[in-house]
Amino acid sequence: MQHMSNMLLIRVITMIDIRDHKIYFTGKESSYWMQVNVHRHLEQLYYGPRIPLQEVDVLENKNRVQFGSQVNIHEGYSLNTQLLEFSSAGKGDFRPVSIELESDDDSFVSDLRVSDVYINEKIDFPSEYFSPRINENTQQCVIELTDDYFPVLIKLFYTFYSEYDVIIRHTQLLNKSENEVIINKVMSTQLDLLESDYKVLSLNGSWGKEAQITIDDVNSGTLVHESLVGSSSALNNPGLLLFNDESAYGFNLMYSGNHYNSVTHHIDDSLRVMMGINPHQFKYHLQMDEVFNTPLALMTYSNQSRKGVTQNFHRFIRDMIIPEPPFEKPIVYNHWEGTFFDYDHKKLVSFATKAADLGMELFCIDDGWFGQRDDDFRSLGDYSINQKKFPQGIKHTIDKIKGLGLKVGIWVEPEMVSEDSDLYRTHPEWVVGRQDKPRIKGRNQWILDLCQVEVQDYIIQQVSHVIDNYGVDYIKWDMNRNHSDQYSNALKHQKEFDIRYQQGLVRVLREIFYSRPHIFLEMCSSGGNRFDLGMLAVAQQIWTSDNTDAMDRLRIQEGTAIFYPLSAISNHVSGRVNTQTIRHNPLSTRFNVAIFGGFGYELDLNICSKVELDEIRKQIEVAKSLRELIVYGDYQVLKSKLENRVVWQVKYKDEALVGLFQTINYGLQSKEKLRVKDLDPEKFYRVTSIDQALFIDRFGELLKHVTNLKVHPYGAIMHKYAQHKSMDDGKFEAISSGALLSNGILLNEIYMGTGYHPELRIWGDFGSTLYHIREIDYEA
Ligand code: DGJ
Repeated sequence: MQHMSNMLLIRVITMIDIRDHKIYFTGKESSYWMQVNVHRHLEQLYYGPRIPLQEVDVLENKNRVQFGSQVNIHEGYSLNTQLLEFSSAGKGDFRPVSIELESDDDSFVSDLRVSDVYINEKIDFPSEYFSPRINENTQQCVIELTDDYFPVLIKLFYTFYSEYDVIIRHTQLLNKSENEVIINKVMSTQLDLLESDYKVLSLNGSWGKEAQITIDDVNSGTLVHESLVGSSSALNNPGLLLFNDESAYGFNLMYSGNHYNSVTHHIDDSLRVMMGINPHQFKYHLQMDEVFNTPLALMTYSNQSRKGVTQNFHRFIRDMIIPEPPFEKPIVYNHWEGTFFDYDHKKLVSFATKAADLGMELFCIDDGWFGQRDDDFRSLGDYSINQKKFPQGIKHTIDKIKGLGLKVGIWVEPEMVSEDSDLYRTHPEWVVGRQDKPRIKGRNQWILDLCQVEVQDYIIQQVSHVIDNYGVDYIKWDMNRNHSDQYSNALKHQKEFDIRYQQGLVRVLREIFYSRPHIFLEMCSSGGNRFDLGMLAVAQQIWTSDNTDAMDRLRIQEGTAIFYPLSAISNHVSGRVNTQTIRHNPLSTRFNVAIFGGFGYELDLNICSKVELDEIRKQIEVAKSLRELIVYGDYQVLKSKLENRVVWQVKYKDEALVGLFQTINYGLQSKEKLRVKDLDPEKFYRVTSIDQALFIDRFGELLKHVTNLKVHPYGAIMHKYAQHKSMDDGKFEAISSGALLSNGILLNEIYMGTGYHPELRIWGDFGSTLYHIREIDYEA
């Protein structure tokens, strides 16, 4: 082997060590080992809890003899019984493989062997995708593979973040011949695990029902989660987790287009996990000397099962992927659910005046401010001001709102065009799809062809103009339809559409936002249709779902938070009657759920009662005091013995927050404990419920059970009274040790129809309370 001598050198480094044909990654809590075997195949030796290097011989593959119909490269040595790092087709590995190449005569057999292994002098990430922030404490190992059949040089990159127990993998191909090589499939990562006793967790769903947790067993065949809609999609998020009680492996792809995750159960009870660009509707023609890079895939291991993987990913994504926010995470006001398209300067200024007075910090002007955009049938592509809504121009409105002390943001949907738009009339050739065939619409709009450089330049120029001319601080970048009619005038080979579109999008976003780090960017795609690491490499947060119902959000946010940090998960408190579900969730619960993430309000402030506005003012104070804890804290889901509970905890330094949520209420509930995990058992903590108001009109004719008021429960006097007065709900205070809190302390009772007390939890359906826990000096 050409540079094998390199590998015999003992490198005195702690994170990545290469010696005796073995490659060792040592993380804080995990080890990842590979070996180049005598046949120069790259084997997976070990991925699990951190172990000493001496253990290596114990881990060698134990296959000694051939059997049955197996095909063997050498006596007793078949690829089908190896744990491999990157497999190819036609040499006896009958599981799905990581790479499928094709030559002129359609042959596809290939045989990859290691030709070199080294540590890169400089960390190298492909510039056509987003990458993490480069960290000086990182190392990158490169393993080069060559093939007897195809004239390609394949490089497997492993960038290792030992402090976070995260490995980032990507694959690179270089065509070293004069003939083109066709890539039908190339994965970013492959991991073979010796045993299959893992459940597979993935996030599935749809618009308004994003990130639903699905747990599968893989006892045979291949489980596939993929997207073909042109975005990472709410159908199948790219995040993937394999777990059992003791350990878990997490995976994610930094790519916003069509992705592919598979988990294959093998006959010998091993598992193969693969992740990369979706090979369906994909075929890349690699020309002489051309390089093709896959997007980056993240992997992490934790011996604290699901909670550990979540916390590893949260810390890493927060520290290494999401761009530094230009200012403290703002409390946002967005008028969308309060107005939809029906608004103007006057209405916005009236909302902004209230929002500023209540303590909100950023005002987002949503869809409808440009062209003739009074519905979703027109004007996408033309970012000129809607004169009817803003007769003095939008800058005038923005300045006015800024004058109230708020930062101002604006909504754009730059990847799209309406048929009724000047842009389409001028440039029909900029639309995705063949011009000589009918193209289908989604939300009445077409997609701009981001494979074309002119289109990319146009979008860069348009959005830059909006930002620079109107002086906004924040952009909400929306994208409201799935891809169809995939065809670009710029492409010779149309199966390159998805990847070229994504690369075009990355260029556009980089050009606009890397040069404007003062902009706070929120991504959105009809809610969470593009909630992925590709987007988080440029944006501080993502709008999680158009469904703002607190009960539905419990599931959506809990799913999303398995893979993405709370700071990225954008949530709003919306109106009394929920737009998507017509459910009436208490204002307290709407707040208690939304606070677990990027936080804001999205309701008509002009129809809120005095008690509601007073409550919102208090909530905002609380939100500001909890901001650091939520953004930087370690999040976990706690178990409850009650089936109608959801319990979330965030802990940061010496404080924690626990949200206890009830779905449907039952009469006469069991006793209940508040548990708080990962506190110092030796220390003492003050536990306080966050004050929340109970609105009297909730009780109707039950009023007599909770007050002495002798008025008609549905009459005008009561109505007036309820607008101005509220009651306390579930007040709680205790001092307890970390040890006892871990075991649980008894909570107050739940209201059961026999009287009011300010310490009762008057929850009803959809009730909840937040508990704040802070360490104190205390002599027991
Ligand atoms: C979809 C988004 O998810 C909503 O928040 C809103 O911005 C609308 N688009 C506007 O058209």
